[in-house]
Amino acid sequence: MMAEALRGKHIVVGVCGGIAAYKTASLVRLLIKAGAEVQVIMTPSAREFITPLTLSTLSGNPVITEFFTANTGEWHSHVKLGLWADAMVVAPATAATIAKMATGVADNMLVTSYLSCRAQVFVAPAMDLDMMAHPSTSRNLETLRRDGCIIIEPAAGELASHLIGRGRMEEPENIFGCLAQFFEKSSALAGKHVLITAGPTYERIDPVRFIGNFSTGKMGYAIANEAARRGASVTLVSGPVGNITTIDGVTVVPVESACQMLDAAQQAFPTADVAILAAAVADYRPAKQFDHKIKRETNGIEQIELVKNPDIAATLGAQKSENQRLVGFALETDHPIEHASDKLARKNLDMIVLNSLSDPGAGFGFDTNKITILFADGRQPASFPLKSKAEVAADILDNIESLIVCNQ
Ligand code: CTP
Repeated sequence: MMAEALRGKHIVVGVCGGIAAYKTASLVRLLIKAGAEVQVIMTPSAREFITPLTLSTLSGNPVITEFFTANTGEWHSHVKLGLWADAMVVAPATAATIAKMATGVADNMLVTSYLSCRAQVFVAPAMDLDMMAHPSTSRNLETLRRDGCIIIEPAAGELASHLIGRGRMEEPENIFGCLAQFFEKSSALAGKHVLITAGPTYERIDPVRFIGNFSTGKMGYAIANEAARRGASVTLVSGPVGNITTIDGVTVVPVESACQMLDAAQQAFPTADVAILAAAVADYRPAKQFDHKIKRETNGIEQIELVKNPDIAATLGAQKSENQRLVGFALETDHPIEHASDKLARKNLDMIVLNSLSDPGAGFGFDTNKITILFADGRQPASFPLKSKAEVAADILDNIESLIVCNQ
């Protein structure tokens, strides 16, 4: 059942120069047996530990080790590989490659492919116990975690050095299990249409000025990518954000203002199974928008009259049918649970994600977040520790899946 989830999936397997590289042969074999397509990339030193011929025979694809093949001049595109991948797993991941991945030192095919990879990346470290315990390794692994990688923790046991401790690469069966579980997760959202709002809204004052907020859109985009990874077709109605990449399955509808966001959301909502309202919508907009830039001397203004923006969540909440699920966010500074519960009821939501502003590392602009989820069906609230936004996205979607499953 689990292995079925890997059928047809494109998996990039990155192999580094460590003694555990011999175990990667079993991992590749398991992936191929499960019906996955595998492309192996080896670092130059990995070739000292296992031959490319072994891995190309098992994977059924020539192994890539260099940027180009010397005798044919064929160029290997890390960009294409990054886009091709449904997941990438680096096993074994040595201290050196972990450090390069954490700092973006793109001097081999493995690291360039990692940087180009839009899919989930798994990292299975393998090293001596002292290297594993070194603060530099811990720091680099923490950076990878924050960048959204899933670290498959090494086991404790006898190491190649005969020392006993933590650093032994997780067994290939367990690494395979992590990948299978990841793809297995797609089931409840697979084939569903998910509408997501993300980012800030800009409310124009004149052609060059606006009222806005500091939302970066990272949380909404992380949810969109994770939902697509689980097989949903995602409409992402996005306010103005920086360049955030999306994966196949996510259709971005760019908007600027709250009114435009409402229009786009209402267009998509009738066919949506789930709507997740992660946008930081401006509560007010200027009553009047100037066609020309306001000049300080000639038509300078002292006050801007504001009018209330539509509440997108509440509007969709009023239109919601019995088989649609609506999820909102709340960012509160005081009495967070009371205010979030109030919004949950007032906007007719099924679930609300409470963002903590008081915890360091959580909220706007950070790559991490700390959430509590409240439910309309009387379930107890669920609190989560500080995690990367990719991991938080997975927690949110796990809970949405439980709403879908419970209500089917
Ligand atoms: N929301 C929305 N449209 C708005 C305002 C909010 O869709 N005009 C959504 C947000 O995307 C979020 C939820 O409603 O999912 C709560 O947003 P928040 O700004 O906390 O709610 P407000 O109703 O504006 O409450 P507050 O008085 O705290 O500003």
